[in-house]
Amino acid sequence: MKPQDLGDGLVMRNASAEDLPAILEHYRVVHGAAVIDGMRAIFEKHPRFSWEDCFIIVKQDSGEVVSTLLTMQGSWAIDGVQVLAVEMEAVGTLEAYRYRGFMRLLNDAFEKRAAELQPVIQTIAGIPNFYRNFGYEYAAPLGGGYPVSPNLVPKIPDGEVEPVTIEEVDAKDFKEFLTYREKHLPSRTWYRTIHLENARYLIYKPTSIEQEAFYFFLVKEKGKTVGVFFINNWENKVDIAELYLDDYKHLDPVLRYNLAKAREWKGIPVRVVPPNQKQVHEFVKVRTQCKDITRYAWYVKIPSVPRFLETIGPLFEDRLRNTEFHNYGESLTIMDYKHGYTLSFENGKFQSIIENPEKKIEEYHLRIPQGALTRLLMGYETLDELMGHEPDVICVSAMKPVVRALFPKLNATVDPFY
Ligand SMILES: CC(C)(COP(=O)(O)OP(=O)(O)OC[C@H]1O[C@@H](n2cnc3c(N)ncnc32)[C@H](O)[C@@H]1OP(=O)(O)O)[C@@H](O)C(=O)NCCC(=O)NCCS
Repeated sequence: MKPQDLGDGLVMRNASAEDLPAILEHYRVVHGAAVIDGMRAIFEKHPRFSWEDCFIIVKQDSGEVVSTLLTMQGSWAIDGVQVLAVEMEAVGTLEAYRYRGFMRLLNDAFEKRAAELQPVIQTIAGIPNFYRNFGYEYAAPLGGGYPVSPNLVPKIPDGEVEPVTIEEVDAKDFKEFLTYREKHLPSRTWYRTIHLENARYLIYKPTSIEQEAFYFFLVKEKGKTVGVFFINNWENKVDIAELYLDDYKHLDPVLRYNLAKAREWKGIPVRVVPPNQKQVHEFVKVRTQCKDITRYAWYVKIPSVPRFLETIGPLFEDRLRNTEFHNYGESLTIMDYKHGYTLSFENGKFQSIIENPEKKIEEYHLRIPQGALTRLLMGYETLDELMGHEPDVICVSAMKPVVRALFPKLNATVDPFY
């Protein structure tokens, strides 16, 4: 971007390597000292990081970073379709400079960069409400964890040993973690694609136990990998995430291992992020004696509905196959009260989506405001759930079954955050 003079000795521009100490100092003040190792790893080792993706507002005389954000390029998978996602990270403004529109300016720069990259979705695991200002919607479950109470986890009986061992993974054998995870990922869900090259910034040796970090593990039985998980040590707790097991009963050794680890880390609490495997998830509820937890949500923005639907279009055939619409050959029209779209199908296969210039709202089958449309397309809420609480989501009765079949609920747990 071209540097922009904002007056008062402040300039908005792309950061460069010389700014890194000032950026890290900004993070320390705004986000806390515990994030420094992780952020440094992103700047120094993220395979797709470029200084073009880091935007700052700085004091020209001292070089102090007043406000900043980072664009991260990554990918998510939707029912196995890999899509480019861009994510805003490390968003912050020094307290004395807040509410002056600085983040809005940086977001405009981010949006220009995103328009060049043409992502299918823009995502952020962010603070409550803020990103709605920039057109984002809550559209996928995020985090939350079942609290593990040491007293509820059975001890190993006297004279017995753990049925499995747990081995920490370094960058060398990260592939084994990924291969096992990929084999066990559920279908009909969203997840983050993790590539081998991501090990470069995800796995680092923190300079102290107070620093936030990820640790990746294999669960081994007689030399064979029978499970994986990673732990996220952040905000003074241990979160067990992306837990996949051949045998759900191996949850107990995993919990015992993590409780022991947490004791080494000053006894911080342990939680299990809801696992994607249903049996493992149920057993976590049994072991924690906790039926339900509060979850947060990913913010998602769909920058182009046609790009999004063209990308996931191949999935529609699968979604229609076992329904009465397996030969569907008509069109579905959708209007978000500003833009109209026509989706065409032939023999139960998605053909195309075109922008429909028709402005008569009542001509459309499905009328749905942009935010609700994002939630529907992401499978966060179904048509019926949306219609149950949003009177401006309206669907012609005859088309409701088609919309239900095309856009099912997708109960994804997407980890890690970046
Ligand atoms: C959140 C934060 C980045 C906002 O930065 P900022 O420079 O003050 O933001 P802006 O002045 O550009 O505000 C943009 C819009 O958001 C609104 N806004 C500001 N803070 C908000 C908040 N916490 N929640 C909701 N809306 C907020 C503003 O009123 C403004 O709305 P408008 O353009 O319609 O008038 C800043 O408060 C911060 O650094 N907080 C601590 C770190 C943090 O939580 N970062 C986000 C991590 S995900």
